[in-house]
Parts: sequence; structure tokens; C-alpha cells
Amino acid sequence: MQRGSTYIVLFAAGVCVVCALFVSTASVALRERQQENALLDRQKKVLTVAGLIDDGERPRAEEIRRLFDENIEGRIVDLASGRYALDIDPTNFDQREAASDPDASRPAPSNRAGVRRVPDHARVYQLMEGGKVSAIILPIEGKGLWSTLYGFLALGPDTRTIRGITFYEHGETPGLGGEVDNPSWKQRWPGRLAFDEDWEPVIRVKKGSAGSPDEDPHQVDGLAGATITSRGVTNLLQFWLGEAGFGPYLERVRGGETA
Ligand SMILES: Cc1cc2nc3c(=O)[nH]c(=O)nc-3n(C[C@H](O)[C@H](O)[C@H](O)COP(=O)(O)O)c2cc1C
Repeated sequence: MQRGSTYIVLFAAGVCVVCALFVSTASVALRERQQENALLDRQKKVLTVAGLIDDGERPRAEEIRRLFDENIEGRIVDLASGRYALDIDPTNFDQREAASDPDASRPAPSNRAGVRRVPDHARVYQLMEGGKVSAIILPIEGKGLWSTLYGFLALGPDTRTIRGITFYEHGETPGLGGEVDNPSWKQRWPGRLAFDEDWEPVIRVKKGSAGSPDEDPHQVDGLAGATITSRGVTNLLQFWLGEAGFGPYLERVRGGETA
């Protein structure tokens, strides 16, 4: 009886060790693939918000890479000064990592977007057409109801007119806050204005329906049954378009200094 128990324990331990080895080997072997896929997904979202891929379109990986390489330039911006940081290599820059590194970020001023730390540097993308910047794509993030939403906002070269918005990661409820992914909601953004005449970031998701971009340039339809996520989108946009976010950079772009 005693021998039987030892055998069972040893057998179970052996199975555990084999499984642990298998899982850790798979995890290490697949890490590079996962990173590649994450990069590809981000590039696809940038292309979508820039209008080079339709929402729901599923181009092959090579097509995504080609479109991205031919049309998009990634650049690193020093958020406080709004200048390009030419000493930082955009390919290896990880903005999320920077935001959690005390040496590469600072505490955010009090804000409603739930942003605790602002990275010293951020990555922006530029859509190039005929050698000119035709859209600026900014990373945005902030709290919804259950999660932090991560996405991109595309602005026209006037830095005021919205070209598109997309979120590539969030944990809001499908059918409620998760409707941020609904293509028909995203289609309500292009043509709206992110700033008022005094360059205050005033774009907001209202409760209920907004008019057309001409009638209601600063407001977008709320998400039904998801007021908190809707408010979160307003808050994160106003934060990242403001002084602590991309405000200084956008001011420089308007001044023609850097774009
Ligand atoms: C299971 C469950 C999931 C919910 N998910 C969300 C959500 O993702 N985003 C959100 O704003 N509200 C969500 N809500 C609703 C909020 O609790 C809250 O009632 C809502 O934001 C109020 O919006 P309304 O004024 O448009 O009804 C959820 C509620 C329940 C019960």
C-alpha cells in the first residue's frame, strides 16, 4: 500500500515536470512569434486609422508590412518640448515600458483619464503622401469602466480635423463598452474637430446622438448603455490632446516647425 502511494506521488511529480518543461519551452519558442504578431497587429491598426485598410479587411502579413513601410513613418517625440527626439531609435522604443519606468517618465498631473505616469517620450506615426505628412497618428490610452483602453487617433495635417480613431486593446464588455470596436461607431469620427478655435481639446463623446460633423463638430454619439466607457474615451482624448500629452507637439506641427 505504502509503495503504491509513493509510486502515485512520483508519477504525478514526473507528469508535472514534463508538462512544466513543455509549457516553458513552448512559451520561450513562441515569444518571438508573439512579439511579431503584436507588432503586425499594431501596424494594421495604424493603417486602419490612417484609412489605408478598411475596418474588417484582413490583409496578409506581407501586405501589412508593405503598406506600412511605404506609407508610414514612425517618430519619437519629446512630449514636454514637442520636439522630435532624434537620439531614440523608434524600432526598439516601447512606450508602455517607458511609462512605467521612473527614469523615463514623470507623474501625470491630476486627470480624469486615469493616467498615472506620462512617458518622457512617445511614438507618433505620420502618414506620408507625395512627400508630405497627410495625417498624424497619436497613441492614446486611458481608463474605461473595467480596463485601460489603448488605441490611436488620426488627425489631419491641420492637427484639428479627426481622420479616425481605433482601439487595439481593452477589456470593456462586448456589446456595451466593447462597442468602441464597432465600425459604425468609428465611422462617426472622421471630419469632427478635436480642438475649438482657441485650441482647447474639446472633442467629446456625448450621451445620446450627435448631429453630423458639420452640425456637431465637437461631439460624437455615446455608446448605448456604456456611459462610463464613453466618458473614458472623452477623458483620454482630452488628456492626450492637452498640455501634458501631445499638446506641445501639435503646436509645433501647426507652427510648421517639425512637420
Ligand atoms: C455585466 C455588466 C457589464 C457592463 N459593462 C459596461 C461597460 O463595458 N462600459 C460601461 O460604460 N458600462 C458598462 N456597464 C453598465 C454600467 O454599469 C453603467 O450602468 C452604465 O455605464 C451606465 O450607462 P447608461 O447611462 O448609458 O445606461 C455594465 C453593466 C453590467 C451589469
